[in-house]
Amino acid sequence: MKIKIFDTTLRDGEQSPGCSMNLKEKIEMAQQLERLNVDIIEAGFAAASPGDLFSIQQISKSVKNCTVASLARTHKGDIDKAWESVRYAVNPRIHTFIATSPIHMQYKLKMEPEKVVEKAVEMVKHAKKYCSNIEFSAEDATRSEPEFLGKIFEKVIKVGATTINIPDTVGYTTPDEYYEFLMKIRKYAPSLDKVDISVHCHNDLGLAVANSLAAVRAGATQIECTVNGIGERAGNAALEEIVMAVNTRKDRYDYQSNINTKEIMRTSKLLTRITGVNVQPNKAVVGANAFAHESGIHQHGVLNNKQTYEIMTPESVGLEQNVMVLGKHSGRHAFKARLDELGYKLTKEELDKAFVRFKEVADKKKEVFNRDIDAIVSGQKIQVPEIFELERFIINSGNTITSTATVILKKEDEEIEEVAIGDGPIDAAFKAIEKIVDKKLTLDEYALQSVTEGKDALGDALVRIRENGTVYTGRGLSTDVVEASIQAYVNAVNKMMYEDFTDVKQK
Ligand code: KIV
Ligand code: ZN
Repeated sequence: MKIKIFDTTLRDGEQSPGCSMNLKEKIEMAQQLERLNVDIIEAGFAAASPGDLFSIQQISKSVKNCTVASLARTHKGDIDKAWESVRYAVNPRIHTFIATSPIHMQYKLKMEPEKVVEKAVEMVKHAKKYCSNIEFSAEDATRSEPEFLGKIFEKVIKVGATTINIPDTVGYTTPDEYYEFLMKIRKYAPSLDKVDISVHCHNDLGLAVANSLAAVRAGATQIECTVNGIGERAGNAALEEIVMAVNTRKDRYDYQSNINTKEIMRTSKLLTRITGVNVQPNKAVVGANAFAHESGIHQHGVLNNKQTYEIMTPESVGLEQNVMVLGKHSGRHAFKARLDELGYKLTKEELDKAFVRFKEVADKKKEVFNRDIDAIVSGQKIQVPEIFELERFIINSGNTITSTATVILKKEDEEIEEVAIGDGPIDAAFKAIEKIVDKKLTLDEYALQSVTEGKDALGDALVRIRENGTVYTGRGLSTDVVEASIQAYVNAVNKMMYEDFTDVKQK
């Protein structure tokens, strides 16, 4: 069975504090939601402002593969505006709602229940004149009388509602209760079997995803949710959590969504970038730590077999790989794996010493980064023979000319000179060295930082080059940053040559 994913990031999500977006951002987000392959995009609440109406219109024109919905109260003016906003969509939907709980009807709407039913029917009929695809929501449904809901649903379905949404507006229900509640409503409104039953859960008690999944067991065919779970108060059910729960536990859920899960991370990051609202590091699926391992036992397990501590792969949500955070809890296996990744080949004794040093550093720092590891290793003065030595270099550079570098390296007693042009003096110098070495090298990383302070600070250059999948790291130190960079490159080349040479000797 297929479950429809109705994304309301641009409506319920956007109306939460700190999450408002401008027109360009909304369009960018809608296009990403289309790539994510959601079934329905709720693009906004057209009656909120002319700007909102315009942005829904633009989204309707740009999105082709998803239904585009616009929210409206059960007011004629709202519905007219909602239609105005989605009329250019390939698949438009008008989504109209009215509250049905005693507390909302009495204190907010100040309407008798009979009047609420009348209004709902009248407005669904009105919306139906414009559009065949109509969603009706009973706001605060979980605090409404099931019998009353049954009555109103029967009537709106009769006049054309094609989706009935039964929201947990205040995040009050629990999974078991919601399941029973929906089953009861289905008895009072048998016509629900002919339309899509939708659920829309808020996360006030942290149960929004669990409630949404329980609702599907009770017959719901559409889930309303938002990226990163943004939304009013504690937010809405998080799209990525629903989708990955269903995907990961196929043995428990016999339905699937159309979501392209590999776009999950990109979508989450785009929203974060646009709104500036970060997700907590331990957030399920998209948090920075969701695929990160630090403890030694976990790292050891994951290095041997990822499934020991990963129930889904980072690749399945669009991440390149998991992250091994090196810190004081990390063990020797993870440290060694990172050294391998960085291209360091240490003997057993060197590794022992480096590991002791690593533990000392890790005790003082929260996280040990690659640069710290470089420092740990270079502190041990792991030397390779200098097959190539820097003799001299001449740089010709400026903001109106192409940079040229002449580099002279010494190999045994021979001086080898090459000239190259490049994108700046460093690039030109690296290209000249590549010519001398006569190998196709990929520059994986180049970083420069000052070791000391002041005008005469020492520049510490780090270069990582890759040849045939193996990475070689070089360091260079000089008060002249170009010289430091050239030395770092030559150092990396020497490591590479040394390895080639010892390989040949072993064969
Ligand atoms: O939470 C809610 O009830 C809503 C409705 C408008 C669907 O957002
Ligand atoms: Zn809501």
